[in-house]
Amino acid sequence: MAAIEIAPGAPYAALLGLGSYRPSRVVPNSEIVGAIDSSDEWIQQRSGIRERRWSTEDETLQMMSVEASRRALADAGVDARQIDCVVVATVSHMMQTPAVATLVAHELGTDQAAAFDVSAACAGFCHGVAMANDMIRSGSARHVLVVGAERLSEITDPTDRGSAFIFADGAGAVVVGPSETPGIGPVVWGSDGEQYDLIRSRQDWRDVIKDPEPRMPHLVMQGAAVFRWASFAMAKIAQQALDRAGVSVEDLDVFVPHQANMRITDAMARSMKLPASVRIARDIAEQGNTSAASIPLALDRMKDEGEASTGDLALLVAFGAGLAYAAQVVVVP
Ligand code: UT7
Repeated sequence: MAAIEIAPGAPYAALLGLGSYRPSRVVPNSEIVGAIDSSDEWIQQRSGIRERRWSTEDETLQMMSVEASRRALADAGVDARQIDCVVVATVSHMMQTPAVATLVAHELGTDQAAAFDVSAACAGFCHGVAMANDMIRSGSARHVLVVGAERLSEITDPTDRGSAFIFADGAGAVVVGPSETPGIGPVVWGSDGEQYDLIRSRQDWRDVIKDPEPRMPHLVMQGAAVFRWASFAMAKIAQQALDRAGVSVEDLDVFVPHQANMRITDAMARSMKLPASVRIARDIAEQGNTSAASIPLALDRMKDEGEASTGDLALLVAFGAGLAYAAQVVVVP
């Protein structure tokens, strides 16, 4: 019997390029507060959000994904035809199937790249980066495009006090490819399905169609419980990601946690005893919480504003509905 041949993959993988797309519409807290009996002061104090971006009709999930991807490809100097696989992390693609990734791969002009969506909510982008790392090192792909994209404004209830001010829209993308040196550390990831109910769609589609007044199945969140879990459990996951990469907090240049709440970011930084020299992503203040898109958006802003540079060591930590989480150390492209 013939033996199966396995072509070797690249020794290591790295992020080769980064790009993002922020929707044009800026929505200040003053536009949100009326429907939820809140105030600009409360929202800023409790979440750190001053304003968020919501997409217009033309800024579809596909459009934002393609724009962010084009910028990441240009940044990497990689042609779309070199992409073997497109992974889109999202929870806001409105068609159950096919995956939005297939449209993105087609519009970008890839050569029929493999394409699929990842549903790991706010942790989806870090899941995608982990998978891309493994694909490249195992030889199943040479270049992978990982996109985090969300249009959460469409599935946010503007009258829900616990979430109306948090969620937002946008997309970020990275090109992952072969490298002579390690550019992506081992992932620490997991899920806690016992807490499935803490962040979820209000109804499933079968309940929606039975409803006499059907509405979008908006997101609902038990904010305080998620807050406690994220603030304590995620600092430990972050530390494990550092340990597995053989990196200490002193070696880090940049900390890019999922942009869920500025107070969660600060609590994690305190628990991890991050030195003052580590620059911390604070994109949430002007962008809101964009779930799977938040980490690449935040890192791109840091690069634009000179807080992160190519070659820096960054710790990524993502967490959200599931409850799902993933963390890894990466070299900034
Ligand atoms: O991205 C996925 C992961 N998501 C997260 O990580 C989100 C985690 N959770 C959070 O960010 C926070 O829980 C929120 C920002 C959502 C809420 O902040 P909180 O400090 O946990 O507020 P709370 O729900 O404990 O409510 C505190 C108080 C309550 O009043 P009393 O009982 O203390 O008198 C609420 O009724 O604030 C009141 N409140 C509000 N007041 C003004 C709740 N929502 C609002 C509001 N405006 N929108």
